Amino acid sequence: MSKITAAISAVGKYLPDYILTNKELETLVETNDDWITSRTGIKERRILKEPNQGTSFMAIRAAKDLLQKSNVDPKEIDMVIVATATPDLPVASTAVFTATEIGATNAFAYDLHAACSSFLYGMSTAASYIESGRYKKVLLIGADKMSSIIDYTDRATCIIFGDGAGAVLFEPNSEGMGLQDEYLRSDGSGREFLKIEAGGSILPVSEDTLKNGQHFVHQEGKTVFKFAVSNMADVAEKMLIRNQLSNDDISWLVPHQANKRIIEATAKRVNVDASKVMMNIHKYGNTTSATLPLLLADYEHQLKKGDNLIFAAFGGGFTWGSIYLKWSYNS
Ligand code: UT7
Repeated sequence: MSKITAAISAVGKYLPDYILTNKELETLVETNDDWITSRTGIKERRILKEPNQGTSFMAIRAAKDLLQKSNVDPKEIDMVIVATATPDLPVASTAVFTATEIGATNAFAYDLHAACSSFLYGMSTAASYIESGRYKKVLLIGADKMSSIIDYTDRATCIIFGDGAGAVLFEPNSEGMGLQDEYLRSDGSGREFLKIEAGGSILPVSEDTLKNGQHFVHQEGKTVFKFAVSNMADVAEKMLIRNQLSNDDISWLVPHQANKRIIEATAKRVNVDASKVMMNIHKYGNTTSATLPLLLADYEHQLKKGDNLIFAAFGGGFTWGSIYLKWSYNS
């Protein structure tokens, strides 16, 4: 019997309406459009402004977009994973709420958190459930309301992040399409360089933690940049070598959107032309768990059955890795 492969069979997305431009950021912190554009590639990002709404608001809409486009009955979904660093609540899974709200009443659901690599790791998890033969439809959503954990007086972080959500459906494939190989890594010595200090079990919320701004993301950008450049490039290159793929065999590089310079360095290492590198960082900034599915949603119409996609991501923790996936449909 041939091996069951796990393919992406549909995609969806949601972006909040509000556009936070570099110009507006100039009114909040000491920065300028030229610096942000040249150092990061970002021109604008979306911000969820709806009061009392969290990550599930966007996850639900991305999932509904997918369901509507693909005509899938939510009752057929076996499992919902929400990859996120910004769950609605510290306890009570965002995925469970999302699954119920979209009518996936026969599914079980949970969140997956690996910072900016959450969606990449989620692809591995979703595909493994399909490959096991136990489940037929696994919905993987990457969603983050980064604006809920960003200090808009800190120019080192507020210029980078944005809000958004993307969703993909994994299903069994009989033609060998879908996930071909993965190489996932992590290294806890990176914890110090990109983190939220308080609000967890080490340092619960207190008047002091609030006063000290310890509930916001803190990043040592330069250090993270160095690790991201070398590790993303290393794993992408490894994926090619291990699968005997030449740069001509790559249809698309699908890199996490943290910084245009990191994306370009990764593309250079695997010798892939800019025309084959998915990029939307200029429009959305770094949406953490949503960058990879938002790329797929934005480029869906250019993708063809059999295309070789190399995903690469790097995030806090540190977490990073690469996945090789064959695209399974023409849209
Ligand atoms: O997705 C998860 C992983 N995260 C990442 O991959 C992010 C990795 N890091 C980065 O993308 C970059 O490090 C940043 C975009 C965060 C910063 O870029 P950089 O080129 O590393 O800048 P820097 O922190 O080394 O700062 C260079 C200069 C400094 O001034 P001096 O000391 O040279 O006078 C900063 O004070 O730029 C200054 N600066 C700014 N200037 C205008 C820092 N932030 C800003 C700003 N606007 N927003």
